[in-house]
Amino acid sequence: MPYATIHGRSLFYALHQEGEPGHPPLMLVHGAGGSHLHWPAQLRRLPGRTVYALDLPGHGRSEGEGERSIASYAEVLEALLDALALPQAVIGGHSMGGAIALHLALTRPERVAGLVLIGTGARLRVLPAILEGIQTDFLATVDLITRMAWSPDAPKPLVQRGGEITAQTPPTVLLGDFTACNAFDVMDRLDQIQAPTLVVGGTADRLTPLKYARYLEAHIPNARLVTIEGGGHMMMLEQPQAVAQAVADFLAGLDAGELAPS
Ligand code: COA
Repeated sequence: MPYATIHGRSLFYALHQEGEPGHPPLMLVHGAGGSHLHWPAQLRRLPGRTVYALDLPGHGRSEGEGERSIASYAEVLEALLDALALPQAVIGGHSMGGAIALHLALTRPERVAGLVLIGTGARLRVLPAILEGIQTDFLATVDLITRMAWSPDAPKPLVQRGGEITAQTPPTVLLGDFTACNAFDVMDRLDQIQAPTLVVGGTADRLTPLKYARYLEAHIPNARLVTIEGGGHMMMLEQPQAVAQAVADFLAGLDAGELAPS
């Protein structure tokens, strides 16, 4: 099992090695209370591409306390790129992971060959019921988050498993994640992003509504939007083929040099 030591802590990452030389790998970053298991096999094992999917500190199999700001998580991500000797990667982020990807693209543009932003936004204010509930009634709040995170059409076993992953996250780590999201706001800075960007938004996403995805597409200079019809916040697990196809098409365009800024 692959682990890297980052800031003295053991960090887990899943690795699928099938890349062609010269093509930047895809680094997948999960959202609040998630782990690499929030990425479906169709994305973690994208044909012809080296794909990393990390567990952020305090999540999944990674050690640590978790962080309380997007900037701190982005530092961990950059340190992982260093540890893996990756000068550049396409950063794919879901929800909080998208915020981490956006932050890295703004602060370390030379490390970001492209962005894949799934179910996320340039500002991620969090319902007070979530922020307070994590501290007062953890399991009921995990239930609330889970109910909001999935489309009504999502298969029940998938929703149940998703809730279990969130419930396994220590409450302090989950609170740190949502605190980090709540303070995140780069709405006025998106025009500085140079990386070619794919935005994927679900029409039934209740945690990061499609409006957020449209805003990203409208304000990032080199962005395109793929809409997942009926997709909830966990659209990549609900409709893995559609999301993986969108990512594969984007990466093919990137490899072919078709997405360079005009
Ligand atoms: N992209 C585009 N527009 C955004 C945005 C984004 N990322 N974030 C906020 N906005 C818009 C809102 O739609 C709103 O527009 P409006 O005034 O036309 O209605 C405005 O900016 C202000 O919104 P917000 O900053 O979110 O403050 P608020 O006090 O209106 O709402 C919440 C606060 C928490 C109720 C709201 O953000 C929400 O429902 N969030 C989704 C649920 C959640 O907790 N998600 C977790 C994300 S990790």
